Amino acid sequence: MSASATVRVVQPQADERIYVTQPHLAPLREFIPYLEKIWDSKVLTNGGPFHHQLEKALCEYLGVQHLALFANGTLALVTALQALRITGEVITTPYSFVATAHSLLWNGIKPVFVDVDPDTLNLDPAKIEAAITPQTTAIMPVHCYGHPCDVDAIQKIADNYNLRVIYDAAHAFGVQSEAGSVLQHGDLSVLSFHATKVFNTFEGGAIICPDAKTKQRIDHLKNFGFVDEVTVVASGINGKMSEINAAFGMLQLQHIDAALARRKEIDAMYRELLRDVPGIRCLPGVGEKTSNHAYFPILVEADYPIGRDALYQKFRDNEIHARRYFYPLISDFPMYRGLPSAHRDNLPVAADAALKVLCLPIYPALSNENIERIADIVAGEVRISAPLEACMR
Ligand SMILES: Cc1ncc(COP(=O)(O)O)c(C=O)c1O
Repeated sequence: MSASATVRVVQPQADERIYVTQPHLAPLREFIPYLEKIWDSKVLTNGGPFHHQLEKALCEYLGVQHLALFANGTLALVTALQALRITGEVITTPYSFVATAHSLLWNGIKPVFVDVDPDTLNLDPAKIEAAITPQTTAIMPVHCYGHPCDVDAIQKIADNYNLRVIYDAAHAFGVQSEAGSVLQHGDLSVLSFHATKVFNTFEGGAIICPDAKTKQRIDHLKNFGFVDEVTVVASGINGKMSEINAAFGMLQLQHIDAALARRKEIDAMYRELLRDVPGIRCLPGVGEKTSNHAYFPILVEADYPIGRDALYQKFRDNEIHARRYFYPLISDFPMYRGLPSAHRDNLPVAADAALKVLCLPIYPALSNENIERIADIVAGEVRISAPLEACMR
């Protein structure tokens, strides 16, 4: 037997580069009839038929009452804060994508960072009360990786202190708890339909709200404040989703269940393959009856043979682009780091997680072979280090 037959070398295909995600796209040919309709009607935006259809279809699919589509999730976050006239200080998490806190700055609001829970990496309700001041008007938690926050504990605090709650639910498309959609909690929830998200419309987003009156205010705000041709009631913005994005959303919805089912399989495969790898902790699901498996974060603990960044580099050397979500913490970026709440001593759990986390590739088109290859790279480090340790004893 030749040497090459006995040694298993993990090599990437020359043309294959694996990213942390790959947009899930419905077949192009299925999109053509939608485009033909748009070309026929010449209605490209401003709340056209596809916009209307997608709002209705998403309410049904997600199990929510009212939903307003947006051009992207960031504009939806900025508008959600405007819709509830939030001012002063807002309590939020440092462990998120930077748009969460940026939406506050765009509204002239001061973010107050509170640490996260070590098991969920979501805002820790036990630490919220200590951060409340007379200027606090709201809490903006994130359902990080699509895992639900402790919504009951957060609501209790909000009720006690008369605060509003706006969830950044950018990761939480389709997530259900025993009580139904996680998007029903708080005063508003905001989704992102960015290309990297579980459900994408190229770019897009939405605000979920509980009543028609709030939806109407949001609809005015996303259309420059126009109520009719001659009436402007607020200094609104152009946050509208176009017809082409909405039409694509209608098509994507037909394929979403298959995409979610494949994500579930991938999640299960990773968990099985990494179960016995010392020093690797997979974040468990928390409180969801139906998950969306939007991300697959692992925490590289101290007893793993190499550090998180070395593993990240090892992946890159193999053309696998895992991502350190969320590193750096939002509170470490220049526009936030001067805030008293951004101090490391205030955020030990988030700071620790930011140094340990690595999100492994997960998307419907990821093959079983590549999942095994990725897990093998993680487990391989332990195999390499074991004989060395034995020698040193
Ligand atoms: C937690 C979080 N909030 C907000 C956003 C912003 O959404 P968008 O890219 O649609 O503007 C994203 C992702 O992009 C996100 O991950």
